Amino acid sequence: MRPLIVIGNWKMNGSLASNERWIKAVCKGMEQGMPAGRQFAVCPSTPYLAQCSALIQKCSLAFMSLGAQDVSPHVSGAYTGEVSASMLKELACSYVIVGHSERRQMHHETDELIAEKALQALDHGITPVICVGESFDERNSGRAVEVVRSQIAKQVTVLQDRLADCLIAYEPLWAIGTGKVASAELAQDMHRAIRLQLAEFDEDVASHVGILYGGSVKPDNAVELFAMPDIDGGLIGGASLSPQDFLAICQA
Ligand code: PGA
Repeated sequence: MRPLIVIGNWKMNGSLASNERWIKAVCKGMEQGMPAGRQFAVCPSTPYLAQCSALIQKCSLAFMSLGAQDVSPHVSGAYTGEVSASMLKELACSYVIVGHSERRQMHHETDELIAEKALQALDHGITPVICVGESFDERNSGRAVEVVRSQIAKQVTVLQDRLADCLIAYEPLWAIGTGKVASAELAQDMHRAIRLQLAEFDEDVASHVGILYGGSVKPDNAVELFAMPDIDGGLIGGASLSPQDFLAICQA
């Protein structure tokens, strides 16, 4: 049985003061009771990881952890601006997002680079959250499944059965930050297609991998999405900035 996992992606938002308020409010809300068997995490911007790590450790809830928004594909060395997986591990990061569509688009990240980043994370005991998804035009031209299949295929080639220790986030680009959420049925169809593709490689990997949905998840659509058999949780952008909305989605 795969656990339900909800991960907040704050993107380039936050401040020392607002992060502290958020973590205190969410921990307090979670202490009042969360459905059993779920895992939650929040991914702040890199400069805030140490602060958020300390605050999360202080509230010591076994099911609430920290994630990062990106990681270097390199171990260490002359890579100005990069952050290594060992640094994230020292800050107690349990997850790292790789291949978010904003990085694919704005920083020209390729599937090969994303797989290298995922490998670095895995080598340091951090769960990579590998993002895939099609654009509006790709969906409209009937190529959504083909596009996502090719993104997944590259990950399978590089990561092989280590994919069992990864999470995949299906995030259709047309649904990110637009308020246009994919219907639960549409999302389920793509999640199913991803799982079937993984099963072509290895049935065991396919049944273990958590596949999260991301793109305009809100408290009022989370219940329907999370009820789908192949949707194992969510990667939440905008709505994760509000502690109340994040808690409501975690409870969905
Ligand atoms: P959104 O972002 O929830 O604001 O649509 C999701 C994401 O980019 O991970």
